[in-house]
Amino acid sequence: MVASIRLDLDHHVGEIDRRIFSGFLEHLGRAVYEGVFDPGNPLSNSDGFRTDVAAALRKLAMPYVRYPGGNFVSNYDWRDGVGPQDQRPVRPDFAWRSIEPNTFGVDEFVRWCRWMDIEPMMAVNLGTLGSRDAAELVEYCNLPGGTHYANARRENGSADPHGVKLWCLGNEMDGPWQAGHCSAGEYAVKAQQAARLMKGLDPTIELVACGTSGRYMDTYLEWDRVVLESCWDDVEYVSAHRYSRNYDDDSAWFLAEGVEIDRILKDYAGLLAYVRGVKKSDKRVYVAFDEWNVWYKDRQGDGAWSRAPHLLEEVYNLEDALVCAQFLNSFVRHADTVKIACLAQIVNVIAPILTKPDGMLIQSIFYPLQFYSEHARGFSLSPIVEGPTYEAGSRGEAPMLDVSASHDPATHKISVFIVNRSLQQDLDVRISLDSLRVDPRVNVTVLTGHDPKSHNSWERPDVIRPASGSATVNADGELLLTVPSLGLSVVSAQLN
Ligand code: AHR
Repeated sequence: MVASIRLDLDHHVGEIDRRIFSGFLEHLGRAVYEGVFDPGNPLSNSDGFRTDVAAALRKLAMPYVRYPGGNFVSNYDWRDGVGPQDQRPVRPDFAWRSIEPNTFGVDEFVRWCRWMDIEPMMAVNLGTLGSRDAAELVEYCNLPGGTHYANARRENGSADPHGVKLWCLGNEMDGPWQAGHCSAGEYAVKAQQAARLMKGLDPTIELVACGTSGRYMDTYLEWDRVVLESCWDDVEYVSAHRYSRNYDDDSAWFLAEGVEIDRILKDYAGLLAYVRGVKKSDKRVYVAFDEWNVWYKDRQGDGAWSRAPHLLEEVYNLEDALVCAQFLNSFVRHADTVKIACLAQIVNVIAPILTKPDGMLIQSIFYPLQFYSEHARGFSLSPIVEGPTYEAGSRGEAPMLDVSASHDPATHKISVFIVNRSLQQDLDVRISLDSLRVDPRVNVTVLTGHDPKSHNSWERPDVIRPASGSATVNADGELLLTVPSLGLSVVSAQLN
């Protein structure tokens, strides 16, 4: 079977914001403790940061990491996590019924970020705390000194401000599970108050308003409309969340998940245009897709009041990785709508990396993020794809290929990301580039296998790993390659 992908460098949707390759770290299970922070472990540095985890995460080149939650943040007082570590209170964490020792807090997180060359994206508690507490955290982080909380930061060892530029106004506040859950109207009042105080202290910060928790919620889009109509002038982004699930164990259906992700982003593009229209505003507000992943196999979120419990340690297989690739394809294709996206999460909890005291395991979902973060640069091209469809269960006929593409004018490089959703059909693909010529030394990387459920394990850590593929350039300058079924193929070529 044959498919074609046509690219035109002038036909694009704008620049890809590298912040779509960001991550999320929550005080949950073993994400912080035993994940990034493991003092005393021979694999940790003098700050207690795991060096093996850091080395793996550096390969993902995440621009931002969101912290400290998630559901955790909605009953968290940031003050508990600053000051001398041995004087910090041990608290119950209601979100995950766990014990929070508070030995890792804002200062440790920012220190870890600076060491990792990552920017912090800080969430404030708008569930059980209020706008004043949020503003005081901005004061602690971003003001130079001479006031109570800025001085406290200096006394705690950080003479220079932390300079946190990106802030989330609470988390999933439309969810009945959320501490401080409220109506959209009530949240909008809180968020606006917090925004004005926070930006009053530091006008350079950018804010993310809580959108709805997902498309499955009754509040989907309507919550967002109410919040945006109130807070349009106060925020830069609205959040979207999605965790993809294959409860019916229907791989053909699951592998067409990108159809749904595209729908969500189109819904948001429509909503944002609508609110901008009724407000007669010149301003643009964008989507921060600040929680996304596959998550359905390990939903047990009860820590039984223990420290660093094993929670949400989802094992990721090949089909999960291909769904993650489709999230990334969709973010790239909607580069004019999505400016931030955070893989939830980064280590141990629904994560690309698992740790044990003496080692680390890379899971399948690590690789898509690594490929896109490395290669999706510059402009998001609008590929014209012609190819076969396949039967995707209750989703009906779905395109066999899910494609995004980028062109980086700085390096004259184009990259094409192709997911072949078919479980058994390899496809011959012809990529044409208008009248442009490509260097015949094309780079192709492939993530594929025969079993959608195959996964890495401590015993067999390399079952899912990238391999080199190949492509040729014909006399017309077209790129020719075969994209394997159940696979992601990443093609990078230099323009002459
Ligand atoms: O990422 C796990 C949880 O999923 C987060 O705490 C919450 O925001 C979402 O429901």
